[in-house]
Amino acid sequence: MDDRKLNKEKIPRHIAIIMDGNGRWAKNRALPRIVGHRYGMESVREVVTACRELGVEVLTLYAFSAENWKRPRREIRALMNLLKKYIRAEIDALNRNQIRVHFIGDIDKLPDDVKPLLDEAERTTAGNSGMILNLALSYGGRQEIVRAAARLAEAVVRGKVATSEITEAVFAQYLYTAGQPDPDLLIRTSGEQRVSNFLLWQIGYAELYFTSVLWPDFRRKHLYQALLEYQKRKRRFGLTDEQLREA
Ligand code: FPP
Repeated sequence: MDDRKLNKEKIPRHIAIIMDGNGRWAKNRALPRIVGHRYGMESVREVVTACRELGVEVLTLYAFSAENWKRPRREIRALMNLLKKYIRAEIDALNRNQIRVHFIGDIDKLPDDVKPLLDEAERTTAGNSGMILNLALSYGGRQEIVRAAARLAEAVVRGKVATSEITEAVFAQYLYTAGQPDPDLLIRTSGEQRVSNFLLWQIGYAELYFTSVLWPDFRRKHLYQALLEYQKRKRRFGLTDEQLREA
């Protein structure tokens, strides 16, 4: 499928993706898990390019969860090396395409040989305004909410915010995604139908799309299929049909 069937006026502003199934993809081929991650990087490249072309404002990819630290040390090391490789290999293309990279999650926990590279990638792409690419690393949704609550409490203690002023919009300013629109569409690959602690606050009204395609097989056409399905959905935000028509 190509993108001609898509309504270009109804492209989600923010797409979030849980990239799942790299391990199973490799296992199906009797290859080490890390080979699945390596091929998964190709899918990342293709999806980033396609989203930029479609005019998506924000793309958030779940690259490493707070729970992934429990994986074998070797796999963690390999994933960190892939991350470094990805940044080094893609930084020029990201800049050329006006993509701003933003890392979300408990970045302090990442190895010391990775952190400076992330800082540098954020700094060198900071002026880009074409699309924001959030890469979630050591990320957990509950952790993010607790961190936001603590930071907001700190602001209250310092007298910068009054408790009577706290609204959803104020709270959201303390999340990693401050200033960004919430995801309109959440995609998860590999057949699992869970949100796995991803962007818990932000996906409150997101359309959920699950596909059995494993992440290393996920290509542009699969993204278009997800978008076509998204465009068929009726987003109600709690309103009646009549109210929606008037709006
Ligand atoms: C889930 O598959 C995937 C991950 C935990 C890592 C995602 C990483 C990449 C796609 C490559 C690196 C990406 C960037 C942006 C540098 P899984 O291992 O949980 O698969 P399984 O459920 O089949 O075991």
